[in-house]
Amino acid sequence: MTKDTPPKPASDQEHSTSSPNQNRYQQLFHHLAQFGQEHVFGFWDELNDAQRNELIEQLTQLDLHSIEQLFQNSDNAPSIPTDPNSFGEPDGFALNDPRPRFTRDEAIAAGETVLRDGAVGVVLVAGGQGTRLGFSHPKGMYPIGPLSAATLFEILLTKVQAVAKRYGTSVPVYIMTSPATYDETVEFLEENKRFGFLADDLFVFCQGTMPAVDIETGKLLLSTKHSLSLSPDGHGGMLSALDHTGAFEHMCARGIKQLFYMQIDNPLVDVAAVDAIGYHVLSNAGATTMVIRKYDPLEKVGNVAVVDGKTQIVEYSDLPDEVAQLRREDGSLVLWAGNVAVHVWDVSFLRDTAATDTGLPFHYAHKKIPYVDEQGNTIQPAEPNGLKFERFIFDLLPSAQQAILVEVDRKEYFAPLKNPSGAPTDSPEAVRSQMTALHRAWLEAAGVFVAEGVTVEIQPSFASTAEEVANKVDSTTRFVQDYILK
Ligand code: UD1
Repeated sequence: MTKDTPPKPASDQEHSTSSPNQNRYQQLFHHLAQFGQEHVFGFWDELNDAQRNELIEQLTQLDLHSIEQLFQNSDNAPSIPTDPNSFGEPDGFALNDPRPRFTRDEAIAAGETVLRDGAVGVVLVAGGQGTRLGFSHPKGMYPIGPLSAATLFEILLTKVQAVAKRYGTSVPVYIMTSPATYDETVEFLEENKRFGFLADDLFVFCQGTMPAVDIETGKLLLSTKHSLSLSPDGHGGMLSALDHTGAFEHMCARGIKQLFYMQIDNPLVDVAAVDAIGYHVLSNAGATTMVIRKYDPLEKVGNVAVVDGKTQIVEYSDLPDEVAQLRREDGSLVLWAGNVAVHVWDVSFLRDTAATDTGLPFHYAHKKIPYVDEQGNTIQPAEPNGLKFERFIFDLLPSAQQAILVEVDRKEYFAPLKNPSGAPTDSPEAVRSQMTALHRAWLEAAGVFVAEGVTVEIQPSFASTAEEVANKVDSTTRFVQDYILK
């Protein structure tokens, strides 16, 4: 039997050869064989109709040519210069800049105008499953409030509500889930009455997937006998998902011009930060990215780098240590700006890019991926055996007409939840303690006494900025035991 002759299924008598499944099988088999991927039909005989349908449906979605090319290019490491002089200084607004192009007050005034006009939407990427965190639900359902145990969804969505209220407008939120998190997320949001959002203000959509392939051979991995090993296509999948789910049309109908982007894992984020939006519009930027000053050259965050005049983000995992440690003549770090994964995007820039499909590049992740072998056994590999393909939304920065950065204070802005309880960094304990420290600082700045060792938690429905706290609390208040302000 030649490689491209489909094996005749033993069950042909039961499944008429003219059945739609059988016809699709024949066609697909030939197509797959051209790319050496026909092994995915290895268990066809054993499958029932529903299983056959599922497999055919998945295979029909594949672009085998692109997958083959991706695999062939998987050894090409991204090229990063090693000479400090090859890196330019990012354009934007650093903290303590003595001569900024626009003052913070000017930025706030501009941001307020855009917010009051109802021209700002929020996109929340929540496609991850919380695997690293060891949590078996969508990460947004993780209870992180230090006293309240409020979930990440509740905290972030209530912050959006607070912004909408502050500026007398509505701010629609576009929540990106993955196929693994969509149903549970929707159910959770409905159970919680969408945290007060009108149905038209909460647009939940699902990102796409990419198949995983064997690291050595590029062959598609099967997760069961009737399904491919598929994984979410990275937060860069947001671009095409916003396009084909109708989210861009929704934005257009609502007059949304700027999109504030945040990740589900950072409860500290200053949602729809008015100053950042202001700097963005005043600079006429296509993309604005918030950064922190790295405390260590090897801190595990993306690095904003300017190469050949183009602003881009290089993941720490792609950055050789010696480049991360490069310094300028004055001793300052060349790659000082760490990505906190908060951006402002011009909607027309996103939309035009999605429409012309200039295509974000794919990144490769080497993972241990359980798979079904030729004998039908499920194998749990001890070493990375598979390649996953992911797109990163920040790879749009170089093609933005103008990309700027805005430096923020990590204490007030960045407490990512990545790792399980007890981990040395980015654990639930670390996040809670940073939330508590910030809330204490807001109260103390308002003249309120908080006794040592006391935990105070300020819910966003009460206040979500230092100014709001100062306007709402009585400075003679004393907190001598744990307390939630709500
Ligand atoms: C990310 C950034 C890193 C930044 C850090 C700050 C990337 C590749 N790196 O690292 O530069 O310094 O955050 O915290 O983004 N997500 C989806 N769908 C996907 C994959 C991810 O929605 O297919 C969402 C996750 O829910 C999460 C976010 O994207 O909210 C971050 O993804 P993750 O892959 O965990 O990136 P980090 O390693 O945390």
